[in-house]
Amino acid sequence: SAAKLRFDGRVAIVTGAGAGLGREYALLLASRGAKVVVNDLGGSHVGEGASQRAADVVVEEIRKNGGEAVADYNSVIDGAKVVDTAIKAFGRVDILINNAGILRDRSIIKTTDQDWNLVLDVHLKGSFKCTQAAFPHMKAQNYGRIIMTASNSGIYGNFGQANYSAAKMGLVGLANTVAIEGQKNNIHCNVIIPTAASRMTEGILPDILFQELKPSLIAPVVVYLCHESCEDNGSYIESAAGWATKVHTVRGKGAVVRPSIDEPSTLEYVQSAWNKVTDMSQATHINSISEASGSLLQVLENLKAGDKDAIEDSFSFGNK
Ligand code: NAI
Repeated sequence: SAAKLRFDGRVAIVTGAGAGLGREYALLLASRGAKVVVNDLGGSHVGEGASQRAADVVVEEIRKNGGEAVADYNSVIDGAKVVDTAIKAFGRVDILINNAGILRDRSIIKTTDQDWNLVLDVHLKGSFKCTQAAFPHMKAQNYGRIIMTASNSGIYGNFGQANYSAAKMGLVGLANTVAIEGQKNNIHCNVIIPTAASRMTEGILPDILFQELKPSLIAPVVVYLCHESCEDNGSYIESAAGWATKVHTVRGKGAVVRPSIDEPSTLEYVQSAWNKVTDMSQATHINSISEASGSLLQVLENLKAGDKDAIEDSFSFGNK
């Protein structure tokens, strides 16, 4: 059997670790030797109130099992304070799992500025502030593992979740850039897209599913992403019910929407090309912004050369 994956000497911050998924991440990390900061504001699922109990209970549980943990009761919006707790208690931070979250579901017409701001603040700004505060420490030690928590509600949309969807896709964008900025210092940033039974999804997920979607089934996937042996950086991993998969974006082959390099694009030309513009049968994955803009240069070159076939091919990157 394979050697056990350990986290001895590592310090992990798990935000929103007082319940649900975060609690499972904290318990598993601690059971494998990590020192854990159990962050939780302890408010309601709509972001009202605060209590130290949520974090304290999990810290107690970890200590009872022989692990090491401290509680942190700050809101993730005060990311510097959260990271400070790790530095004061354990002197470093190696792992940051941005997991804290709330919901304020309303249709777009009924969404108030407060519903919008609070959800964006906790998920997106909170993950930004914690990551920004942890980053200098990770850079200095040339090591870091960061997780952002996205959602299928962001990727596919979900009725009544305009604020939450926007925040969750914002986190995908944030992860993309953190992955690039951290690369040369061995700081990896990956995205988890979970589906799990918690107070957040009670009454939302169908009852039959709810029983089976234990948060503990996702923890090994997320904690593996945080191990030094995991080389992924910038991956989106979806996981539920003891299943996991990588997810990524694709771009179609595309089509030129102007007759030639000497002629402008017109509405009618766009209309006539629309089936090709939206055809995804030859879609490919683009790995970077330079790959994306590189293929644009190729389009222009082919247009200038008047090469119709090459133009058709110019977006099927790797096929030229
Ligand atoms: P949960 O409600 O059980 O856990 C979230 C925890 O975050 C709570 O303990 C809460 O007190 C804490 N929290 C809220 N605001 C905070 C703040 N400002 N500062 C610090 N802590 C705060 O929910 P669950 O399901 O475990 O969710 C964890 C993460 O996974 C969230 O980001 C959620 O959006 C995401 N997610 C969950 C899905 C699911 O199916 N459960 C689906 C997709 C994403």
